[in-house]
Amino acid sequence: MGNNVDLNFRVGLVGCGRISDIYLQTLAGIEGIEVVACASLDIQESRVKADKYGINKACTVDEVIEDGAIDCILNLTIPTAHAEISRRALNAGKHVYSEKPFVTDFNDGKELLALSKNRQLKLGNAPDTFLGERWQTVRRLIDDGAIGRPTGVFVHVGTHGTERHHPNPDFYYGKGGGPLLDLGPYYLTAMIFCLGPVTRVAGMSNRAFNKRQIENGPRNGEWIPVDVDTHSLSLLEFSNGVIGTMNISFDVWDSEAPRLEIYGEEGVISIPDPNPVHGANIFHGPVWLRTRETTRWPFQPPPGGREEWQIIESDSGFDRDSRGVGLMEMVMAINENRPVRASGELAFHVFEIMDAINRAAKSGEYQTISSSCQQPEPLPKDFPLNSIITKE
Ligand SMILES: NC(=O)c1ccc[n+]([C@@H]2O[C@H](COP(=O)([O-])OP(=O)(O)OC[C@H]3O[C@@H](n4cnc5c(N)ncnc54)[C@H](O)[C@@H]3O)[C@@H](O)[C@H]2O)c1
Repeated sequence: MGNNVDLNFRVGLVGCGRISDIYLQTLAGIEGIEVVACASLDIQESRVKADKYGINKACTVDEVIEDGAIDCILNLTIPTAHAEISRRALNAGKHVYSEKPFVTDFNDGKELLALSKNRQLKLGNAPDTFLGERWQTVRRLIDDGAIGRPTGVFVHVGTHGTERHHPNPDFYYGKGGGPLLDLGPYYLTAMIFCLGPVTRVAGMSNRAFNKRQIENGPRNGEWIPVDVDTHSLSLLEFSNGVIGTMNISFDVWDSEAPRLEIYGEEGVISIPDPNPVHGANIFHGPVWLRTRETTRWPFQPPPGGREEWQIIESDSGFDRDSRGVGLMEMVMAINENRPVRASGELAFHVFEIMDAINRAAKSGEYQTISSSCQQPEPLPKDFPLNSIITKE
């Protein structure tokens, strides 16, 4: 992995479920980072995962957290377990990289940030998709002034939930679940990367179904309760004056609405499908640009369509689903003694925004966001990018 990274960074995995495969595939390709042990609530599941990826040790959660040879815990547990596992890992002197959402409780998040600071340990958090070429390209366009001063943002994510493709979708419909906490981190993280922190939100939500039926896997046909709202509308105000709307749902069968658009004084950037259900092109995919020179509005009748958008070629960022590169970037940050891009601070800010949207939906009142974060630096042009993942 270039010359920047400690060539012997040992990772212990906690949580061996569905998302762990893409992490283990990515990390298997990175020189200098090795997953040396894995644990979950189910030792059988952990053994199967260890065997599949040639990991030496499948063990209990206690053993992996207490293992003195491990530098970092990769926390891929369900949302309600994130805080407990991260806290225990930090207390055991280990760096942590966790899946989203950062936490499911505001005070837990504050405590984790304080703990990592006091112990001088790094705390990284998913999503790392903004390190993909798509978001790096959007950020470059904005920084280069392609749309002038940004003024507005629009996000629409209509899905019908997870019970058709996830074998154990329960956590998506319990505390810490729902479309906002599940999918919101991708969009909010990307927006903060491109536009900066959020200062104020409003919200409204409801749920179409009180129970859902699992439609795949060994539990096919089983009904599960829905304890959270599954259709979330929000208003966002950013510290730079941009205002936006974000609609995220598990109650929408399909939609032709654009997914994410950023409006500026001189143009608009549109990202057609930043998080398709099957995750194939979260990191990459087209970025469309229209400016005052190419806008269709002055023409009567409008000369059609999408073919008139300028498609921007990406030249930096990861071009494939590389979940796990955020951990790699964190290891680089440790070695270079600089801030982590996919940081706990960013993830905590994202969590507070989502929590505040949910509070606003209940109270009917605007909520002010108390936290903030540094806008992560874009990846430098000479970042070794895809060539970093070289190990076969
Ligand atoms: N499945 C996806 O497509 C996907 C995509 C992106 C992110 N994520 C995120 O990744 C995380 C895990 O999702 P998943 O789909 O892999 O879940 P999963 O249910 O498939 O697996 C969860 C794993 O965590 C373990 N676990 C649960 N509670 C634990 C505890 N208290 N202590 C130790 N281990 C515990 C389970 O034993 C299991 O190994 C979630 O936060 C989710 O939001 C999932």
